[in-house]
Amino acid sequence: MNTELIYLHDAYLREVTARVVNILEENNQFSAILDKTIFYPQGGGQPSDQGEIIGLSGTLEVNHVSYNNGEPLHKGHLTGTLKIGDEVQLRCNWDLRYTHMQWHTAGHIVDQAVKNVLPDADSIDGNHGIGKKMYIEFATDLSKVDLSKIQEQTDRIVKMSLSISTEMITFDELIKRKIKLPFDLPQNKSLRTVQIGQYPVMPDGGTHLKLTDESQPITITQIIQKDGGWRVVYEVNKMDVKKLLTQVVEELSPISFDSSKQLPNSIELIKSQLKTETGPDLRIKYLGKKGLFNQVSQVLKVLDPRERKEAGQKLNEFKTYLEQEILNKEQSTNAKSTWIDLTAPGIEPKVGHIHPVSQAMEEITHIFEQIGFTRVRYPEVDWDHYVFEALNMPPDHPARDEWETFFMDAPIDQKMGKIVLTTHTSNGQVREMERLNSQPPIRMINMGRCYRRQQDATHTQMFHQFEGLVVDKGINIQHLKGTLDYFAEQFYGPGTKSRIRPFHFQFTEPSFEVDFSCHLCDGTGQVKVDAEVTKCKFCKSGWHEVGGAGMVHPNVLKAGGIDPNIYTGFAFGWGVERTYTLKKGLNIDDIRLLYSGDMRFLEQF
Ligand code: FA5
Repeated sequence: MNTELIYLHDAYLREVTARVVNILEENNQFSAILDKTIFYPQGGGQPSDQGEIIGLSGTLEVNHVSYNNGEPLHKGHLTGTLKIGDEVQLRCNWDLRYTHMQWHTAGHIVDQAVKNVLPDADSIDGNHGIGKKMYIEFATDLSKVDLSKIQEQTDRIVKMSLSISTEMITFDELIKRKIKLPFDLPQNKSLRTVQIGQYPVMPDGGTHLKLTDESQPITITQIIQKDGGWRVVYEVNKMDVKKLLTQVVEELSPISFDSSKQLPNSIELIKSQLKTETGPDLRIKYLGKKGLFNQVSQVLKVLDPRERKEAGQKLNEFKTYLEQEILNKEQSTNAKSTWIDLTAPGIEPKVGHIHPVSQAMEEITHIFEQIGFTRVRYPEVDWDHYVFEALNMPPDHPARDEWETFFMDAPIDQKMGKIVLTTHTSNGQVREMERLNSQPPIRMINMGRCYRRQQDATHTQMFHQFEGLVVDKGINIQHLKGTLDYFAEQFYGPGTKSRIRPFHFQFTEPSFEVDFSCHLCDGTGQVKVDAEVTKCKFCKSGWHEVGGAGMVHPNVLKAGGIDPNIYTGFAFGWGVERTYTLKKGLNIDDIRLLYSGDMRFLEQF
């Protein structure tokens, strides 16, 4: 045989790199022979391992491994291709393998337990899970043996936490050491033995636990006579959390709880199980929400309050232990996982793009920069003075009610007032006048975040505005209107018109609402579908309102230190989201979508 059987020396290895020596096909079932393996081929009463053999161009899902002319054949379904000479990664289904190890070791424990009760018992066969049967068969008459005594011995061996060791020796050495040979063994090769604690050595090629108390609880279910032999039938039970809990309750309960006592057995059981386990799911299994630790901690609920503190301390120690142990295991697994396929094609990184609102802001900035505006940024958390008072809205002025404001819970400044999340970018007007030492000309475009207590299809609590401010000698409404028309054509396309309607703002006089003509109906409010004229559903009137504008109020100029008798100005302030969503072809009828974080929506822009 050429395949190196790694599991004979290391039953806990779950992954290894090997090479394909041969690959066979029969009725679309593939079998691989490898230079080495961690997969256990069915035999000696132990079921076959399962797992994956992963190559560069194909994967074999191994569902059975068996000997064929002395070579382990890894059989299963192949996706892609595997060739002779390919380097492959072997991954064994660890949960299954570990269960098989528990079943097999349990058989040896039961064998020894029977021999402890009846020293002359002669075991001749065993099954550790093939066909879901588990028993040890004896040539000796066991009719008079008490089943509970075997159970008692089994529990004792498990509890003693005896080590299980293996050794490779020659046939001659076996004979020399007078090791009992239960069946015919090949004489021309090295043989594997297994030994529980100091009990007699046995020839055995299976995979085994390292300690007897790694085993789940073993139950002897019956002793039956079959085919001339006597079978001691056993079961290996999965760790039953409910049972564990009952055990912890008993051990920590007011009647039996004693601070000097050792940690409860069930905690010890979890600890010893963790000792030998590895794997990516360990943290979830032990420390996760529904993990073993949390389940065991339920004990606190049923304890007498007087006992809870002490039990809690013990549970904390237990948790620290689990955390440290799992961390050590994770670190050592990371260090060990060295198999990197350098030839595998890389994963193309996803390239994102600028958020549509940021795109719109860049475009708006560019449009205004073309006609001499300077982009500035002013605080989004600002003094009441700049947000309201300097804009001709003294405290308690009823106009303030229109701005549903978020106030900061902060000390009030005598001069500047409260701190607020700015409700509009108009807070930049007086700040800009101050920045330029009250010396026009001013051509500002202030863009930034604003906040209001509003939320519906056209309003969000956080949104963006852009604010235009022009102050100079002789500035009038025509300049404002010309700027609006220029922006409309640049942003929405040729032919788009602007319209101003009388309105009221405290900081402009006269004030207007600004509308742009609808691109769907060209400002007519009507669309023609199949010779039938209907109302435009997008705008309903031919126009879309985007924001406010007006001639800067003399009081605002004064607040910025500018003489309104010499200078005049216009200002406008529109929502970026609103302005953007009206663009041709976008069809966004709910601006909240822009902030939904839904990539399917955002990727479209
Ligand atoms: C103002 O905010 C004034 N400061 C505009 C102004 C500036 C007038 C300069 C005169 C001179 P209004 O509250 O109407 O005005 O808001 C202007 C625009 O901001 C609205 O038309 C809308 O497009 C946008 N907007 C307001 N609140 C929200 C919100 N919660 N979510 C999204 N956009 C909003």
